[in-house]
Amino acid sequence: MEPISVISCLVAVVIMVAKASGAPPALFIFGDSLVDSGNNNYLLTNARADSAPNGIDYPTHLPTGRFSNGLNIPDFISENLGAESVLPYLNPWLQGDALLRGANFASAGVGVLNDTGFQFAHIIKMPQQFNYFMEYKERVAGMIGLPATDSLVAGALVAICLGANDYVNNYFLLPFSLRQLHYSLDDYHAIVMLEYKKHLQKLYELGARKIMVMSVGPLGCAPSQRASRSANGECHAGLQKSAADFNSLLKSTLDELNSHFAIPVYTYANSYAMNVDMMTFPEAYGFKTSRDACCGRGRFNGLAPCDHLARCCPDRDNYVFWDAFHPTEKASRIIAARFMNGPPSDMSPLNLKTMMQLDL
Ligand SMILES: *[C@@H]1O[C@H](CO)[C@@H](O)[C@H](O)[C@H]1NC(C)=O
Repeated sequence: MEPISVISCLVAVVIMVAKASGAPPALFIFGDSLVDSGNNNYLLTNARADSAPNGIDYPTHLPTGRFSNGLNIPDFISENLGAESVLPYLNPWLQGDALLRGANFASAGVGVLNDTGFQFAHIIKMPQQFNYFMEYKERVAGMIGLPATDSLVAGALVAICLGANDYVNNYFLLPFSLRQLHYSLDDYHAIVMLEYKKHLQKLYELGARKIMVMSVGPLGCAPSQRASRSANGECHAGLQKSAADFNSLLKSTLDELNSHFAIPVYTYANSYAMNVDMMTFPEAYGFKTSRDACCGRGRFNGLAPCDHLARCCPDRDNYVFWDAFHPTEKASRIIAARFMNGPPSDMSPLNLKTMMQLDL
């Protein structure tokens, strides 16, 4: 008994010192491919980014599982928090001290709904992402004890990005969607939001207290949708309206959830507006095009995944889109900076800088 209690005492002291010296908070990521840093590499699914030229601008110049030419949004969130990037939960290197920095549970292809992404086979659906988070907490509690684990989670930033696949890869799935036969779009929005609200409440139940919820982007303007659904390359109006309607429901859901707390627990990240800005004024951000993807095939490079068969542009920083759906490293950096420091039109009610300064 004696040595163990000395060790746990030491651990407690180290953690207190770490807090006092302003060590960065832990980071937990949930959701889809926009924030997946490589979990799907370990799964039997075709929703994956583990072949070149993904990762071409990553420090190793190798694919990592990120849907990006280099770093992705979670990497830049970490950077802004002064922390190292967090590892995918399924990565075997996620052990020991690395666990205390947080974990990324996201999985490309998932949606709010269980049946979204069925075409991608073995992905980590939301109930399983939460199961892994519970398992994570048990592992950490085994290292530092329950109270320290609870305060690590309460002080952490939790970011969740969901919804795009419930539209692009479910309700609006080409060539046809059963969902459209069974539900009007308004009914479908309501079903999705009802489930999303449960996921958001689940994060609170699991101890999260600083939760950033990303809006869906301008889905109809993704190169894949411009390429497959429009005559002249314009944004697809139905998907655009769906994204806007989903986001306004999401915003009011978060307001309603926050109304039960003196200090806001949830903050809405208006990544929709951030993407629209870059698409509308690409030159203002140093981009040359927001219509074509850098990596892909077919019209606007929007008709095939980014893999060894794809065309890849030589000048990634000129593009908002890396592939048919996902931003380049450069666009991701711009988005994460606005999460951190953006005005209330970007981040409501709190940007990350303010949210992370709140003492709970
Ligand atoms: C989704 O799946 C989980 C189990 O995997 C289940 O508990 C939950 O009820 C399902 N949600 C819906 C809306 O069917």
